[in-house]
Amino acid sequence: MPEDHFGEDVAGRYDEWVADLFEPDVVQPAVDFLAGLAGDGAALELGIGTGRIALPLAQRGVHVHGIDLSPAMAARLRAKPGGDTIPVTIGDYATMRTQGTFALAYLVFNTINNLTTQDEQVACFRNVAAHLEPGGCFVIEVGVPQLQRLPPGETVRPFDVSPEHLGFDEYELVGQGLISHHFTLVDGAWERLSMPFRYVWPAELDLMARLAGMTLRERWSGWNREPFTSESRSHVSVWQRP
Ligand SMILES: C[S@@+](CC[C@H](N)C(=O)[O-])C[C@H]1O[C@@H](n2cnc3c(N)ncnc32)[C@H](O)[C@@H]1O
Repeated sequence: MPEDHFGEDVAGRYDEWVADLFEPDVVQPAVDFLAGLAGDGAALELGIGTGRIALPLAQRGVHVHGIDLSPAMAARLRAKPGGDTIPVTIGDYATMRTQGTFALAYLVFNTINNLTTQDEQVACFRNVAAHLEPGGCFVIEVGVPQLQRLPPGETVRPFDVSPEHLGFDEYELVGQGLISHHFTLVDGAWERLSMPFRYVWPAELDLMARLAGMTLRERWSGWNREPFTSESRSHVSVWQRP
């Protein structure tokens, strides 16, 4: 079982830290996009967290089921209005099987990067394919690796330097590893949080999908179906089971 990096400390402050991502202009386009693909079918969110997307999607009438490694994050979801109607299976979404089949599975906000090896990411696609109905779709929202911004020979790049927060990404280029280091000023003292990820290329994800018997159906740079170009910093991709 992978290490749970979303324990009580993180779960208790998660919604506050990513408050911008709970804004309706961020959430609504994602929910519209996902609801359109789910149709009358059920949806499975991998890494459901505190329900940022799952709750509004369920309010749209989609039956949502979640998988998450963190009991603390799932408890935050359950405590919200409507949260207790969303079943959450505690486990590793790369391997954990849940009951039922789904028209849609989705993995948003770079959560595929929480799987820190290629093998785990490949296993995740296989696990999703095993949960999808024929014709079902798998959606991933994830950043494009920002290696063009890493100066040659260096391994650390700052991504936020502000009075109360310092953020640095540390790259390990061979295994496509990335550790995000956060230093946050809390009540006058600096708190450190370091979280490991594995960055992954769009074409590599397409190959993982193919290994799992799925093919690319759509790729956009955002939830409003903006074109994906060589300048895009992130993508929303949809693979489909035949
Ligand atoms: C960045 S949060 C995203 C939460 C939510 N999807 C959102 O958009 O706000 C990542 C979530 O994935 C969960 N997670 C990370 N690795 C996991 C794994 N291997 N299996 C299941 N859940 C995992 C974490 O516990 C956390 O709740």
